[in-house]
Amino acid sequence: MSNFPAGFLWGCATAALQIEGSTQCDGRVDSIWDVFCRQNPDRIHAQATPERACDHYQRWSEDLDWIAKLGHNAYRFSIAWPRMPGGIDFYDRLIDGLCARGIQPMATLYHWDLPHPLGNWENPATLDAFLQYTQLCADRLGDRVSHWMTLNEPAWSVMNGYVTGLHPPAVHDLKRAFTAAHGQLQAHHLALAELRRQRVVGKLGIALNLSPVKCAGDTRRDRRAARWADDYLNRWFLEGVVHGAYPERAWRLLQHTLDFDKQLTHPQPLDFLGVNYYYPKWVAHSQLPTRFHLNTSGNAHDKCQFSLQGRLRFCDPPQTRKTEWDWEIDPEGLENLLVQLHHSYPGLPLVVTENGIGLGESWSDQSLQDSQRIEFVAAHLRAIQKAIAAGAPVQGYLMWSLMDNFSWLNGYHKRYGLLAIHPETLERRPKASAEWFRQVFCDQLSL
Ligand code: BG6
Repeated sequence: MSNFPAGFLWGCATAALQIEGSTQCDGRVDSIWDVFCRQNPDRIHAQATPERACDHYQRWSEDLDWIAKLGHNAYRFSIAWPRMPGGIDFYDRLIDGLCARGIQPMATLYHWDLPHPLGNWENPATLDAFLQYTQLCADRLGDRVSHWMTLNEPAWSVMNGYVTGLHPPAVHDLKRAFTAAHGQLQAHHLALAELRRQRVVGKLGIALNLSPVKCAGDTRRDRRAARWADDYLNRWFLEGVVHGAYPERAWRLLQHTLDFDKQLTHPQPLDFLGVNYYYPKWVAHSQLPTRFHLNTSGNAHDKCQFSLQGRLRFCDPPQTRKTEWDWEIDPEGLENLLVQLHHSYPGLPLVVTENGIGLGESWSDQSLQDSQRIEFVAAHLRAIQKAIAAGAPVQGYLMWSLMDNFSWLNGYHKRYGLLAIHPETLERRPKASAEWFRQVFCDQLSL
């Protein structure tokens, strides 16, 4: 593989709730998302639910054949905590299936599907339950998983759960947001300690959503707003996992309101940092009323809005390359992010654990010719090559996603897959990007 360093991991990422379906099978309990979708059908595009999703829970073996056919050497999936303990056998079989096909299993322990009976991450009992769940996974799967990610995007899930109120538990409460984030980060360190204690063979990490923050104004207040966004969306989580303590400047502003310490207990080093990258954030001071809106329609005129009055707002980027869901397309942002991480945390291996483009495709020959996705991924892969040339130790790229899936608030309308899924029969069909992606890594097709 001449395009990328030897041993480079490449493949796709998925998450249990978004692809598995079979939500009532084999002792699975509800997750907070199952309940949220049932109770708030109108908040999800076309009132979609994860009940059937891609039926991966039944069709997993066919899906692994696809991954092998597409030539990937790694696959990032998440384990469904609500299926535990009974559901561990499913992941045992899945991992055996991956190993048999020569594909490295990369497992995320928590991709937003908190078992509903646990309530939330503010609850100390959730931490104990997570530890017990981690013990089970380490014990049953620890001899084969190549990479562990404790959590997926704690910043994004907490921001939407407690600030915008768009995700469960759908409240607006900054203090609770920080308490829940602290619960997750504490769980991260305790889980890494447990995985190490059980001497699992895999490397240990986490997948963080990281967005370069750009200041969209030129006043002092704009610069302060951009600093806040970077401090609380990126650095709070980065420093919390890499150094086991919250960053000083951000901590000083909040310490009087928080009921926990700056230092996390029993901090554990990372073997690698998973980077989920979609788009940068342009930030300015906000005088507009507090308002949050996400484009879930795929209508390009439907603008995303994030305004915390008196503090900050996300602004439109000065250029116009955007997806139909109003997300900026900025591959250079990925290059800069990786280089900056390399400078801030020298020697820490980086893996791009998610990156991809959601498109309004349908099940048609035309949609299968997804040249826009090819262009998007090629540009981001070139950005990674530049970052590697600048010294960043990037060890892999996992595209979001293997197949079109339940895209949270966007239901099944926003499609990310290399494989298209027929809306009724759930038949899988490769898009043009699937073969192109194979050629890039297996045949060194130039980018
Ligand atoms: C990431 C998540 O935030 O972005 C994925 O880890 C998600 O689960 C992906 O699907 C794309 O976001 P969305 O909302 O467009 O599906």
